[in-house]
Formats: sequence, C-alpha cells, structure tokens
Amino acid sequence: MNKIAPSILAADFNILGEQIRAASEAGAHYLHIDVMDGLFVPSISIGLPIIESIRRNTDIFFDCHLMITDPDRYLTNFAKAGADSITVHIEACKDPVATINAIKSLGLKSGITLCPETPLEDIECVLDIVDMVLIMSVHPGFGGQAFMPSSLAKIEKLKNMIDRRGLKTDIEVDGGVTLKNLRMILDSGANVIVSGSSIFNGDIAENIAEFKKIMK
Ligand code: DX5
Ligand code: ZN
Repeated sequence: MNKIAPSILAADFNILGEQIRAASEAGAHYLHIDVMDGLFVPSISIGLPIIESIRRNTDIFFDCHLMITDPDRYLTNFAKAGADSITVHIEACKDPVATINAIKSLGLKSGITLCPETPLEDIECVLDIVDMVLIMSVHPGFGGQAFMPSSLAKIEKLKNMIDRRGLKTDIEVDGGVTLKNLRMILDSGANVIVSGSSIFNGDIAENIAEFKKIMK
C-alpha cells in the first residue's frame, strides 16, 4: 500500500500540534520525524521532549528518521517517547545488524537508510531483517532541497533486490518530493513517500489530497 508521510521539519513549530492534527485529519498515514544531532549532519532539529509532547495529542504512526551518530545509545529513549518505527543510517551504525535487532526487540518497526553517495550494497547485510529501506533523495540535514534524479535508478535497483529475495520490504523516499516528480518516484518502486515543504507550505489538507490523488 502507498503511504504518505509528512515531514514535520517543514511545519510551523509555533502551531505544531494544529499542523499535525491537520495532516492526520487529511489522511496522512505516518508522521515523519527528522532527528538531527549536529554531528552526523550539520543541523540540530527535533529531539525527545518534542516527540513525547506531540505523542500525547495524536495516534498517528511516528516514523522517526534518526540522523545521529551511534543511534544505539538512544533507541530505548525513542521507543519510550512514542516512536512507532525507527530508521537509522547505515553510515552511523557500528554494527547495523545489532542495531536493527535492538529496534525490533523494542517492538518497533525498523528501517535502514543511506546517504545518496552510499551504494546499496552497503545495506545488504540488513536487507533480510528490516521492515523498510529509506532512500535519501537529497543529502540529509536540510528540508527544501531539490530531488536528486539519480535516486530513481537506486529505487529501481533496490526494488529488484527486494523482489529477488521474495521480501515485502517497504521502500521509503525522502527529500525533494513534489507533486511533479511523485509519479516517477512511485513508478520506480517506492511506496512510502516523505514530503516536508510540499505538504506544509500552503494548505496542508489540500496538499495531502493532491498527493493522495496521484498515489492511489
Ligand atoms: C532531510 C530530511 C527530510 C526533509 C524533507 O534531511 O530527512 O525528511 O524534511 O523535506 P523536503 O520534502 O522539503 O525535501
Ligand atoms: Zn527524513
């Protein structure tokens, strides 16, 4: 099933609760939460207290994308704060198999992701055990960047790897997704679509409705 995951990095934090409600009521499937530590990526964004706070006001699935070094240190804290899934960067893990198993043992969905310059071969070690692979279609760290067209071939290649193994792994895409490139991205094999600026700039409900029209 195709799913839309608005990224709150692009939300208006003055009225974050309202904007999350609007996205949820408009039929968003996941809420994508970008956590940055100022080390793995240059920026610092959303952390545990924010997640705990918004968790009290919504039941929507929290899709947490950890752009942090050595994520093992914080997996339990994110589970307690209300994460439903945790996606970690292969580049940030010392022992990716152990990290994915730790996420699963907390009862959460697990995801692995990789930067645009990292080859898919690097995630093969966890491909059989993850629920989702996130293809970064921009350099992680900032919203509002342009989609990298080279991501399309990477999605297609990943889809083949997944199909060849008889897996049902979700393919998520994150960065620069717009109403204009969405069709191509879905056609390449992605089924979980993250979007920040294209959802939160303007009318959230209208934007989600337009995304969903293309996604069904
Ligand atoms: C970038 C983040 C993205 C970002 C996407 O590091 O992982 O989730 O919020 O934002 P847009 O859709 O504006 O590229
Ligand atoms: Zn993200």
